[in-house]
Amino acid sequence: MPAIDWQLLTDSAVAAMKNSYSPYSKYPVGAAALVSDGRVVSGCNVENASYGLTLCAEFGLISSLIASGGGRLVAFACVDRDGTYLAPCGRCRQLLFEHGGNELLVMTTEGVSSMSALLPWAFGPSHLANDVRE
Ligand code: THU
Repeated sequence: MPAIDWQLLTDSAVAAMKNSYSPYSKYPVGAAALVSDGRVVSGCNVENASYGLTLCAEFGLISSLIASGGGRLVAFACVDRDGTYLAPCGRCRQLLFEHGGNELLVMTTEGVSSMSALLPWAFGPSHLANDVRE
């Protein structure tokens, strides 16, 4: 498992946040994660004139993860415009759970937490009759 450089993840999240397209909420968000093979993937929120189509930063991060070769998420950080850590929204917790599971480490304003704490009793691939990942 690669060593977790939280400062690097935070810097990557801040860099992505600076590219945010959020003219409607004016609430830029950036997210970054360490992948099991050592890659760092990131994303920013992308809003739309049709407000409900907004893509959270985590959505972009997951898309980048898959487009760059997949793998398991090991550690995750998300920041607002001030670089303050944000707790991912509920939908994004589910998106992250799919690719990191209960063990995914998540940075919060109170220190490192885990997906199992943020999304207890999560529904995931293992609940399906045919786990397509096997
Ligand atoms: N947002 C994210 O990108 N991730 C989250 O986990 C919470 C919310 C974005 C969506 C929207 O563009 C803005 O923050 C305000 O809700």
